[in-house]
Amino acid sequence: MTTLRLPGLVDVHVHTRDPGQTHKETWASATAAALAGGVTTVLAMPNTTPAVGDVDSLDLAKAAARRGARCDYALYAGATALNASSAVRLAPRVAGLKLYLDQTFGDLRLPSLDTWWEHLAAWPATPPVVVHAEGASLAAVLLMAAWLERPIHLCHVSRADEIRLIARAKDRGLAVTCEVTPHHLLLDQSDAGHLSGRGTVRPPLGTPADRKALWAHLDVIDCFATDHAPHTAAEKMSDRPPPGFPGLETMLPLLLDQVTRGTLALDDLIARLDANPRRIFGLPAATTVVEVDPEERWVVRAAELHTACDWTPFEGREVQGRVTAVRRGSETLFEEGRVLAAAGSGADLKEGDPSR
Ligand code: NCD
Ligand code: ZN
Repeated sequence: MTTLRLPGLVDVHVHTRDPGQTHKETWASATAAALAGGVTTVLAMPNTTPAVGDVDSLDLAKAAARRGARCDYALYAGATALNASSAVRLAPRVAGLKLYLDQTFGDLRLPSLDTWWEHLAAWPATPPVVVHAEGASLAAVLLMAAWLERPIHLCHVSRADEIRLIARAKDRGLAVTCEVTPHHLLLDQSDAGHLSGRGTVRPPLGTPADRKALWAHLDVIDCFATDHAPHTAAEKMSDRPPPGFPGLETMLPLLLDQVTRGTLALDDLIARLDANPRRIFGLPAATTVVEVDPEERWVVRAAELHTACDWTPFEGREVQGRVTAVRRGSETLFEEGRVLAAAGSGADLKEGDPSR
């Protein structure tokens, strides 16, 4: 067996559901899934219950992470209609500030253009402001960021017109970075059938042309990120399914499979899951190594995954490339399908001494 050694990867967009909705996922289960997928740093979104928007809710979320995390992490603060000036105090302790400009899971959507502006104007240049913005919202927030000369990071870009606009913004020298998910690269509306009702996700899956445009603009994509958004299989099959797909354990195998197929260079994969996210989010260099068998062919099965949500949009997909082990120095965090890192062993990279 040949073994490929990669740096521990960073996923800048993860929903842990902890605190508040731990029947969907906990810090312990999300980070077990992360390690099994070669991800050793997760940046966690603020749409927990309660949402993270002030010191008390941040402390509560940090306590849950401290107890459960098996890998390193940092938490985002969430922008609300009322916290533009007070959230600034959280900046040194978080991965960034998340702005929800379009409808999604949770109640953090910001309806007013004034609020968008207030947050973009008040938040410091680092850590980044990260934005869920689709279509015209994306264009509007780019305009505001340009006027304010402030960097922004665009989450889960999914459409051809969006990636083309970001390409134009970058051509003009705007300080904009973006991420794209494996599901928007590999699935589209034509997959709705086999997802049998579970295909609801924000942003929605695009057309085959959207998918093609994302691949054609790989140079514009700074990061790959899962937007790991676990909801239980039962919830996904209900009358009002919540939007979101799990993705932590499948991202690296799916992308390695693209490397095998010749559609993605290994260096381009690593840049988008290691160097670029670390640069954009000011994270330390990897202290972990991911061992991969690039030749193993296997079939994705929810029953074998570590996420608590119990389903995957990639069920039954055959991929080539599998994580065989994750190590930090002489310590083994994951090996042969088993997660060995203890709950609570991960470090908060934005609190205290990140070198531990
Ligand atoms: C996310 C969730 O469930 O928290 N859902 C989703 O469809 N992506 C929210 C989000 O990231 O928009
Ligand atoms: Zn998300």
